[in-house]
Order: sequence, then structure tokens, then C-alpha cells
Amino acid sequence: MMEQSMKQVVWHGGQVSTEDRQRLLGQSALTIWLTGLSASGKSTLAFALERHLINAGRACYVLDGDNVRHGLNRNLGFSHEDRTENIRRIAEVAHLMNDAGLIVITAFISPFIADREMARGIIGSDQFREVFVSTALEVCESRDPKGLYVKARDGRVPEFTGISSPYEAPGSPDLAVDMGHLEVGNAVLQLAKLVRRD
Ligand code: ADX
Repeated sequence: MMEQSMKQVVWHGGQVSTEDRQRLLGQSALTIWLTGLSASGKSTLAFALERHLINAGRACYVLDGDNVRHGLNRNLGFSHEDRTENIRRIAEVAHLMNDAGLIVITAFISPFIADREMARGIIGSDQFREVFVSTALEVCESRDPKGLYVKARDGRVPEFTGISSPYEAPGSPDLAVDMGHLEVGNAVLQLAKLVRRD
């Protein structure tokens, strides 16, 4: 069914290139992909980095796990299959936003190496930077801002990352930041170095 309909869909190129759009914005498009446990500090970092970059005159946008799961991905749960589809859609959206010339910051647990590699493939490795928010499980669990770790421990939230579902840490990320030890402002400065100065 899907195969059939795809055969009748033809890519239509426009008159404006990615380079044209980047020139207009005066920047190189990039996706900064944050990965880490729930409550590791991904969203806080993503929004602080967005503020920092906008203040510096960069056009950027945050795609955040909890927010995207309210809209675009509201029909997805936390099975391995649904998480893969979650990441695939986000990567496609990030790719479109990069094509529009934007700097994209994503904040998803994205626990599986294969899914993050899929994202790298969709976005393109030249535009993709992987950042491991390496805050220890004990720290995340002691913070537990949404009370989900408590629920996961007593089985009320199944397949919870780090408790009853695995988290596969990146082997060689472009950057690792441990938010159990770093100040947000300090981490933001490290992240900002990943963005090229045009
Ligand atoms: S991902 O694994 O598919 O990348 P995503 O980042 O979109 O996850 O969503 C994670 C957020 O959903 C967590 O911060 C938490 O608030 C919530 N959540 C609800 N159930 C789960 C679960 N079983 N595992 C992990 N996070 C969950």
C-alpha cells in the first residue's frame, strides 16, 4: 500500500537552495542532538542554549521530547518500535528545519544507538553533532521532577529508560556534559562552541 503510493510521488525541487537560505540567515545550519536519561537536564540545556544563540543573533529552534509528544508524536508510546518512530520523525523534522537554514537543538532520551545513527543518516553527518548529557542515573532519580522514577520502580510506569528499559550511551559523542557536576551556564558555553562562527 505504502510502496504503491510512494511510486506515484515525485520529488519536486524548488528554486531556492539550502545555501541561499543559509546565506539569508548568515549562518550554517546544524542539528545539536542531545541524548541522555529522563531528568538528566536535556530540556533545560536545550532551552538555555537556544536563548544564548538567539541572543547572539542565531536563528534556532528546540525540538523537545515532552513537547513533541503532545503534538506531532502524540500517537506514540514507549515501546522500542514507537521510540524508533519517534526519533525517525524528529530527525526528518530536524532535516527540514536544517534545509530551511535553522540551527536545531533536539532533546530526546533517544536511548538506542541504532536510532541515533538513523537520525545521523537522515540529517547528514556534516550537520549532526551528538551531545551526551551524561548525568548519572542516581542523580536523575534523586531529582525525579515528574515523579516518574518512583512510579517506574514500583511498576506503575512500564519500560522506563534506565530502570526497566535500556539506555545505550554514545561511544564517541562530539561532547559529553555531566549536569550532576556542571552549572547550566558553563555547559551552554561548551555547547555553543559546536556552532560554527560564520
Ligand atoms: S524517547 O525514548 O522516545 O527518546 P522522549 O524523549 O521522546 O523518549 O520522551 C521522554 C519523556 O517521556 C521523559 O522525559 C518522561 O517525561 C516521559 N516518559 C513517560 N514514560 C516514559 C518511559 N517509559 N520511558 C521514558 N520516558 C518516559
